[in-house]
Amino acid sequence: KTLYIGITELATATGTELKKGASQKDIMVIRDAAMVVEGETLLWVGNRKDAPAADRTVDFRNRAVVPGLIDPHTHLIWSGSRLNDFEARVQGVSYEEILARGGGIHQTVRYTQASTAFEMVSLAVPRLNALVRSGATTIEVKTGYGLNHTTEMRMLEAIQDLQAFTPARIVPTLLIHLPPRDRDREGFLREVVEQWIPEVAQDQLASAVDVFVEQEAFSVSEAREILEAAKAHGLQTKLHADQFHALGGVELACELGSLSVDHLEASGEQQIQALAASNTVATVLPGVSLHLGLPAAPGRKIIDAGGAVAVGTDHNPGSSPIFSASLALALSVRLSGLTPAEALTAMTANAAHALGLSDTGRLEAGMKADFLVLDSHDWREISYRLGNAVSKVFISGKEA
Ligand code: NIG
Ligand code: FE
Repeated sequence: KTLYIGITELATATGTELKKGASQKDIMVIRDAAMVVEGETLLWVGNRKDAPAADRTVDFRNRAVVPGLIDPHTHLIWSGSRLNDFEARVQGVSYEEILARGGGIHQTVRYTQASTAFEMVSLAVPRLNALVRSGATTIEVKTGYGLNHTTEMRMLEAIQDLQAFTPARIVPTLLIHLPPRDRDREGFLREVVEQWIPEVAQDQLASAVDVFVEQEAFSVSEAREILEAAKAHGLQTKLHADQFHALGGVELACELGSLSVDHLEASGEQQIQALAASNTVATVLPGVSLHLGLPAAPGRKIIDAGGAVAVGTDHNPGSSPIFSASLALALSVRLSGLTPAEALTAMTANAAHALGLSDTGRLEAGMKADFLVLDSHDWREISYRLGNAVSKVFISGKEA
């Protein structure tokens, strides 16, 4: 057993339920805190004066402690580059235009289809390490740059292989990203529903299936067909929705009871009300708003209406080349109007819900010992600094 002391303040969401509406800001802050960790598990959290005995004491010397961040949305596996898109976009060509011409995501698909699993992993490890250094202790990773059976399965294999290179927990998601340009849509959908999804469920290659609903991607009815098949096979569901147009993806996610619906840059009042009435987490991705110059997702309005917000990096080469989890948290305060406490809950307890996890994201007895020691005595520094405020990362009780 190890006793950790020298914690000026420990800030964490508490309780197993999803933090909706006003409860998202109700975090617990313990001054002069201490924690006892045994193996991978947090045994005790409280005020130092009440701390139980332990075999060993570690003094953090006046630092704040928060739960490890959970990045519930990344596309960490990708090959090639999108620097040409970037250069064109800063000169006025839009993301959607590039995509419609067969560039953008399609370009990354071409590079990724030509990569081996070894190449995919080699490229992803440094990105993964950057997210961990910035405070991520659990990281979701999506497929989606395969668009054919062989490459999607290779991506799933690469995601599984990534786990050997990091102490962070990797959570794989099958993403049905776009209709491929080189084959018929109907045939592709049949293959996804009749082959990919049963195989992923059978071999437990992912716990959730995600679909991109957008004018240049899938319609709401196509997404419904895919996600209903996922549910029928016992998989969880997620959606990329309302990035450019509110087409009904948010409403579909709420109706299906999806774990989360992500993006929401174009969401309006109707979508906010649907989210508030559901237990589907609204995941905002401020890196996308910053990088593409899109309106920010209405995080403030969703919480005020009674919904639950999470924050993710959406790390990917095209819309969010962000290599820091804590930067995404800090941007959600600036761009989506979350308070520091709401942003902390968003990237810890609510992000855990967005992945269907219940053993991480909160510093309470019995939880996995995933926590961050900040480079400050004040926990709010993590939401303030537009850089790295994380000095130590502990995952499953061990310093990463
Ligand atoms: O979450 N919007 C669709 N998919 C990704 C972007 C992928 C890319 O541009 O490579 C996203 O933004
Ligand atoms: Fe995404």
